[in-house]
Amino acid sequence: MKLRSAVLILAIAAAISLLSGKFLTANLEPSLAGKASQVAIVTGGSRGIGKGIAIGLGEAGATVYVTGRTLGKESRNTGGINFTAQSGTLEETCQAVGKAGGKCIPLAVDSGNDDQIKELFDQVIREQGRVDILINNAFSAVSWLPRTMGQPFWEKGVESWDAVNHVGLRSHYVASVHAAQHMSKAKSGLIVNVGSLGGLSYIFDVSYGIGKAAMDRMANDMAVELATENVTMVSLWPGLVKTENVQDGALAGGSERRGVAPGSPAFDFEPLLQSPLAETPLFVGRTVAAFARDRRKMDVTGKVLLPAIMAAGYGIVDERGVRSPPMISMKFGIAYLLRSFLQNLQLWRVPDELWVQHPPPSASLRFLWNTLPDLCLPSAVAKLAADSPNL
Ligand SMILES: *[C@@H]1O[C@H](CO)[C@@H](O)[C@H](O)[C@H]1NC(C)=O
Ligand SMILES: *[C@@H]1O[C@H](CO)[C@@H](O)[C@H](O)[C@H]1NC(C)=O
Repeated sequence: MKLRSAVLILAIAAAISLLSGKFLTANLEPSLAGKASQVAIVTGGSRGIGKGIAIGLGEAGATVYVTGRTLGKESRNTGGINFTAQSGTLEETCQAVGKAGGKCIPLAVDSGNDDQIKELFDQVIREQGRVDILINNAFSAVSWLPRTMGQPFWEKGVESWDAVNHVGLRSHYVASVHAAQHMSKAKSGLIVNVGSLGGLSYIFDVSYGIGKAAMDRMANDMAVELATENVTMVSLWPGLVKTENVQDGALAGGSERRGVAPGSPAFDFEPLLQSPLAETPLFVGRTVAAFARDRRKMDVTGKVLLPAIMAAGYGIVDERGVRSPPMISMKFGIAYLLRSFLQNLQLWRVPDELWVQHPPPSASLRFLWNTLPDLCLPSAVAKLAADSPNL
């Protein structure tokens, strides 16, 4: 009986995976270079997911403006975190975008300052006459969150609200207003909020969850009003992304309150970081770039999108040559449970250096990670499993 229900669940999941083909290579424009190169703004691009998206867009032929508080080394916001030599600068991001074949302009912009955000858009319009893509990614609490992890909200005090949501939520609203003013005139455009699973259920911190839930809602509600303007807006939930910060141990637990709900088992992310279960920032970037090229993107406007689901449709692999499975897929769960077995078969470890093009993985690695279907759970089931408060 147990086996029969397991087979039934697998069959249903397989059917769902096969039917949910929203993200198709056939719908992709060949490049973002086109007659005139598409112009993108990525806020918060010195490192991490912002850098990955900048490189992904550059690779696809876009002209990319990346912003951060400062251009060079002095931008390091160590805030108690020991960044290793991996953590970068806007200048390094632009070198990487250039190497990937894109054009990149680094701009020192404090996303916490409304006037500077307005000036950013004015400058891009002055120089390019257009803005096609806005990636709302800047987030000032990247180092604050791990530093204060374990403290409850009443001990953190009121300043937690602005530490997490001034640059990270409010700044996205401000940038979207300016972007929409130009895009609505052009009757074309794409705005992406870089959200997270924190929009669904508690992780890390109270202000964090409020901000991420609001970001999803912002995408949904702005998309309603942008629908008449041919402008797409979505919220993106990357999975476990091995950014410089995560590789430096930002998710390592310790205290009893570790930024997980009471009663949740301790979860060690460390072993996942060397495997395809952890996404690289460039994987997210390549997926965003494909979505920007998708002629049918308006079909999913307002939605929360998981890059790993989109990458499966678009056939995208990262710089390691593998495709990460979505966190809500059976492949993810089964691979996690069978990790020792996969390690023995040399099917687990993939090179873990960021921003380096690795030699192609073995045929069996490619078969397991890139070819076998992911078997995604329907999102309603994922919400149930995560005990979502807004189900
Ligand atoms: C920071 O990390 C580097 C590399 O792991 C190490 O050499 C250095 O001693 C660390 N610095 C501090 C202050 O912990
Ligand atoms: C909508 O925007 C896309 C590009 O984002 C463009 O190809 C298409 O022509 C636009 N459609 C209309 C009706 O303006």
